[in-house]
Amino acid sequence: TILILDFGSQYSHLITRRIRECGVYCELLPCTQRIADLKFKPKGVILSGSPYSITDEGAPHVDPAVFELGVPVLGICYGLQQIALNKGGQSSLATKREYGYAELNVHHHPDHPTADKLFKGVDTKTIVWMSHGDHLESPPNGFIIIGSTSTSEYAAVAHEEEHIYGIQFHPEVSHSVEGTKILSNFVVDICGASTNWSMDSFIEKEIERIRTLVGPHGTVIGAVSGGVDSTVAAVLMKRAIGDRFHAILVDNGVMRLNECETVKKTLDDSLGINLTVADASELFLSKLKGVKDPEKKRKIIGNTFIEVFEAEAHRIDAENEKQGRDKIEWLLQGTLYPDVIESISFKGPSATIKSHHNVGGLLEDMRLNLIEPLRELFKDEVRSLGLLLGIPEDLIWRHPFPGPGIAIRVLGEVTPSQVQIARLADNIYIEEIKKAGLYRKISQAYAALLPVRSVGVMGDQRTYEQVIALRAVETKDFMTADWFEFPHDILKRISNRIINEVQGVNRVVYDISSKPPGTIEWE
Ligand code: XMP
Repeated sequence: TILILDFGSQYSHLITRRIRECGVYCELLPCTQRIADLKFKPKGVILSGSPYSITDEGAPHVDPAVFELGVPVLGICYGLQQIALNKGGQSSLATKREYGYAELNVHHHPDHPTADKLFKGVDTKTIVWMSHGDHLESPPNGFIIIGSTSTSEYAAVAHEEEHIYGIQFHPEVSHSVEGTKILSNFVVDICGASTNWSMDSFIEKEIERIRTLVGPHGTVIGAVSGGVDSTVAAVLMKRAIGDRFHAILVDNGVMRLNECETVKKTLDDSLGINLTVADASELFLSKLKGVKDPEKKRKIIGNTFIEVFEAEAHRIDAENEKQGRDKIEWLLQGTLYPDVIESISFKGPSATIKSHHNVGGLLEDMRLNLIEPLRELFKDEVRSLGLLLGIPEDLIWRHPFPGPGIAIRVLGEVTPSQVQIARLADNIYIEEIKKAGLYRKISQAYAALLPVRSVGVMGDQRTYEQVIALRAVETKDFMTADWFEFPHDILKRISNRIINEVQGVNRVVYDISSKPPGTIEWE
C-alpha cells in the first residue's frame, strides 16, 4: 500500500487515481493522520499539494514520524515545502506565482542512481503543470537538484540515502505529459510496491471487510434506484451477506416509463437481490399537487422518500424480530470516492446550487451505521466492478437520473397526466438515441415538458398544445457540460415520433445551452 496524505489540494484524488492506474493499491488519508495510528505499514508515502501557503497561520503540517518510517517519501508542491520544513530547507513565497505549463529540465545524475530513479525514462525537457505560490529558496541539506524550470531552480530535488523526493509541479494532472511515468517510477521502482491491485482483488477484499463489519447475523438495508452506483453496491452486499441485505426500491410516481418493473426484474429476478418495492406513487403525487417551485418539489420528494423508506425499514425490522433475527444496524450507501474527498478535504464544502436529495437523515432517526462499499472508487471503476459482478451492460451505462425524477422535468405543476406525457416523450427520445448508437456518447439525455402551449395544425385542425424540450449533454464531471450535436435526421425522426405518438404535444424544441450558464436540468 502506498499512503497518500492529503493536504487539501484539488488534485489529491488524481494522485490516487494515477497510482491505481499503475495497478498499485493506495490509500488517501487526511494530512492530520498520526503515523503511530496507521493500521498498515505503507511501502511509501506521498504528500499532496495544498491550497495553503506554508507560511499561513493554521497551515497543516505532516507528522514528522513520516520521515522515520524508513520508506521512500515523495512531496508534491506543498508536500515539497513540508519536506523542506522538516529537513532544514528554506521555503518562501515565490515572487512570481506560477500557474500552468512549464518546461522542466531534468538533471540526470548517473553517479546518484537512487536519486535518478524518479525521472528514469523521462525526457530531459518535459512539459509539466505548475500551480503554486511557495517555492524553495534553498534545498535542504544533502538534497541534490534533479530538475529545474526557468523560474524554479529547485523544481525537483532528491536525497540519495534517505529516499526522499520533492517536486514543485503536479505529476498527477494530465497536462504533465510524463506525470504518470514519474508516479509509476516512484511507487513501483522506488517503493517496490506490487502492481497487483485490480478489481478482482478489490471484490474479495471488500466482501471480507463487509462480513467482518456486519458480523455473522447483522442486517443491512439500502435504497436502490436502478442506477449504477446503488445497484453495484447492492450486488456486492448480496455477495457478502446474502439475504441479510434488504434492498428497498421506492416508487415515487415520477420514475421513467415502466422503470419500476424493469428495475425489479433486473435486481430481483436476475441478480437475486432481496428486494422490496414500496409503491408510494400516490402519496408522492398527492403531496406534489399544486406545487410549482422546483426546490419545494425536491424537498417534498426528499422528505417523503425518507418517510416511506423509514416505514419500510421499521416493517422489515418488525418482521426480523418475529423471526428471531437481529435488528437492522446498517444502512448501505453507494457513496463514491469523489464525495468522500469532498468531505475530508480542507477546502470546505462547495456551495450548494441545488439541494440534492439524500438519505442522510435516516442515520440519525434510526441510529444506523453507514456502510459504503464504493467509497474508494471512481465512477468508471464502479462500472468495471459492476461488469465483473455480472450486472447487465445497459444498466452499467445508464445515464444518471435525478432523485426527484420527472417531477423536475415537468416544469410547473406535477400532475399524473403531465408526468405521463413527459414519460412517453422521454421514452421515444431515449429509444431513438439508442437505436442511433449514440447513447454512450451522450452523458445525459432527457425530455422536459414545458408549461406553455403553442398553436399548431394537425390534419385540418388547429391545435393548442404543449412543448417538449429535448436535452442532451456531453460532460466529464457534470459540473460543466456542452450540448450534444445530433445529426439532423435523428432529431427529425425524434420530433416526428413524439408529435405523432404523444397526445398533448404539438411542438418539439432542442436545447442548445451549455452549462454554465445553463444547468443540465431545467429545474
Ligand atoms: P444540474 O441541473 O445541476 O445537474 O446541472 C447536474 C447533475 O445533477 C443531477 N441533478 C440531481 N440529482 N437530485 C439528484 O439526485 C437532484 O435534485 C438533482 N438535480 C440535478 C442532474 O440530473 C445532472 O446529472
